Amino acid sequence: MRFLTGLQPSGKLHIGNYFGAIQNAIELQNKGEAFYFIANYHAMTTMPGAETLRANTYEMAVDLLACGLDPQKAVFFAQSAVPEVNELAWILSTVCPMGLLERCHSYKDKIAKGFSPNHALFAYPALMAADILLYDSDAVPVGKDQKQHLEVTRDLAGKINDAFGKDLLRMPEAIINETTAIVPGLDGQKMSKSYGNTLPVFGEEKALRKLINKKVVTDATPLEDPKPTENSIILALYKLFATPTQYDEMVEAHNRGGVGYGQFKKDLFEAYWEFFRAAREKREWIMANPGYVDEVLAAGATKAREAAAQVLARVRKAVGLI
Ligand code: ADP
Ligand code: TRP
Repeated sequence: MRFLTGLQPSGKLHIGNYFGAIQNAIELQNKGEAFYFIANYHAMTTMPGAETLRANTYEMAVDLLACGLDPQKAVFFAQSAVPEVNELAWILSTVCPMGLLERCHSYKDKIAKGFSPNHALFAYPALMAADILLYDSDAVPVGKDQKQHLEVTRDLAGKINDAFGKDLLRMPEAIINETTAIVPGLDGQKMSKSYGNTLPVFGEEKALRKLINKKVVTDATPLEDPKPTENSIILALYKLFATPTQYDEMVEAHNRGGVGYGQFKKDLFEAYWEFFRAAREKREWIMANPGYVDEVLAAGATKAREAAAQVLARVRKAVGLI
């Protein structure tokens, strides 16, 4: 079983990314062959600029390795290290109806947010299909927002197979963890970079303590009164980090009253800080070993390119390119 997924290097990793996508992908590296890459071609569709793109790609690699992505188990690489993916994207584009891309939510959402309606943004799903099909992937763990792109991928694979050979491209399945709740942001909306309400996975202790203390929204219930547990942002976040007993204790303290939000926020910070302790230590080690990330990505690129070359040779031959 080959798992493949891509993560866009589009800013600092937040705990919504971690619990919504990364944790699950990291567990899967123990259950089969894993191909994980940093989707830097995709990040270009929103034009971050050269230096930002380079820095974000590197930082994403550091963060994923720190979170437990194990390069001994998973093939880990930058999308752009296998430029052959663009050739497959082109081939897929030749069977891709315009209407299929026009229906994609991600394009419409990005335009609504004010991004320039360039061709790359429009063709984004065809490149994503190529990412998946180039490695004969069986299963693709993604968030719910990517479900439609997986449907496009299957559609395009079917069209190529109908036109050029029954088993030419492997039909992938999406793994969508429907049970993963949406992680709320510090203000209670969905946590997202675009809303400026994120809790980063990594950062400086004092600043993060202050962030939780100042930005997690609470109501005005006085210290001595019982506090509402429904729709409590503190409780929703605490649940991600605390043991079930710790969580029950905090619920109990809400019901009882006599404990202020300041204390709950302190407990939330401690649980969060403890949860990522090992990842933080790993990150420090990585940062102290310059060259490690480059080595890992170079080794991953070699393996990814080998796998891609086989599929691409098969496809080129079938479509008449040699
Ligand atoms: P953002 O909304 O901050 O731009 P991305 O779209 O880059 O985040 O998120 C990458 C992946 O992280 C998504 O595909 C999704 O699976 C996951 N994710 C992001 N935010 C959340 C959230 N608040 N709750 C659960 N999962 C999330
Ligand atoms: N579009 C995905 C996202 O924004 C990233 C991505 C690019 C991807 N190529 C992929 C995910 C291939 C899975 C498989 O999150």
